[in-house]
Amino acid sequence: MHYVAAQNRYNDMKYNRCGKSGLLLPAVSLGLWHNFGGVDTHENSRAMVRTAFDLGITHFDLANNYGPPPGSAEETFGRILKTDLAGYRDELVISSKAGYLMWPGPYGEWGSLKYLTASLDQSLTRMGLDYVDIFYSHRPDPDTPLEETMAALDRALKQGKALYVGISSYNTEMTRNAVALLREFGDRCLIHQPRYSILDRWVEDGLLDVLAQHGIGCIPFSPLAQGLLTDKYLKDIPPDSRAAKPHGYLQKETITPELQTKLRALNDLAQKRGQSLSQMALAWVLKDPRITSVIIGASRPEQIADNLAALKNTTFTKEELASIDDFTRAYRT
Ligand SMILES: NC(=O)c1ccc[n+]([C@@H]2O[C@H](COP(=O)([O-])OP(=O)(O)OC[C@H]3O[C@@H](n4cnc5c(N)ncnc54)[C@H](OP(=O)(O)O)[C@@H]3O)[C@@H](O)[C@H]2O)c1
Repeated sequence: MHYVAAQNRYNDMKYNRCGKSGLLLPAVSLGLWHNFGGVDTHENSRAMVRTAFDLGITHFDLANNYGPPPGSAEETFGRILKTDLAGYRDELVISSKAGYLMWPGPYGEWGSLKYLTASLDQSLTRMGLDYVDIFYSHRPDPDTPLEETMAALDRALKQGKALYVGISSYNTEMTRNAVALLREFGDRCLIHQPRYSILDRWVEDGLLDVLAQHGIGCIPFSPLAQGLLTDKYLKDIPPDSRAAKPHGYLQKETITPELQTKLRALNDLAQKRGQSLSQMALAWVLKDPRITSVIIGASRPEQIADNLAALKNTTFTKEELASIDDFTRAYRT
């Protein structure tokens, strides 16, 4: 059936400026790491993208290797662009990345000019696009000179194949160096994509300060710790959950009875705030003005709508923050 986007799609979403750039991003973005691959049901993936866009989510986060199989999430998204979103390209911010293993041999992963350049061309072909809005170095490469990886990002900009560039999972020191190198090319680092949630707070140890200092946006991934910070694992492991799937990245062994006890305490606190656990977890990340957007994952359209209600309350009392710290101390990385 022909898709027409909801007329009221911009009514409720909040759009935040990405660092000191001209680009606004929705406070919640949708990531296509899981549930958009060749192994997944296309109509469900399509329904999630359409639901997201109808709710004001203009930013879709992809990477060359998302699937499984690798590359298939970009193919899925390319199909949806063609069938549903072709007339809305200028309302969309589409990101891709390269860094993880994509093809055999010495040029199929990490951070060389050779790999990043070929990978971006492949991503554009899979999605049927002339350009991506944001192209990331997906992970730092310990063996390739950082100058070369940044030169690859610069080349993507100069060729017009990316409008903006970013880095993901770079530590604080490498971030400083990457920002300086991009500046030497006359470019700016738009955004950093780190893992950040109630259960993983490494970014608070210097990275967020460096990003703010340089006017760079921050877009955390896995803000729900892959689903741990939702109400689904409070008692058991549902058969259709990420932890139960053979190709999911969340390991069953992570969900111990001790962790479940803490999650139940967090869930009680969320309910006292009038939120679900997932809404509170997203609100907790978004409470910091240095955060531009959070990238959520989803396995069904209802989760997206449910999560957006987090935006109704992103302030916390000192006591609530202290309780969250207490409940999670033993499980934080
Ligand atoms: N840069 C990087 O290295 C990197 C790494 C990882 C991810 N990412 C990006 O970040 C995105 C998000 O990562 P993520 O998928 O791990 O994020 P997440 O938001 O922490 O976890 C998403 C999972 O949580 C569950 N969920 C979400 N909303 C729910 C709700 N309302 N109620 C119950 N369960 C809910 C779903 O699990 P079920 O499937 O069990 O329903 C969903 O698949 C990725 O798609 C990708 O774009 C980037």
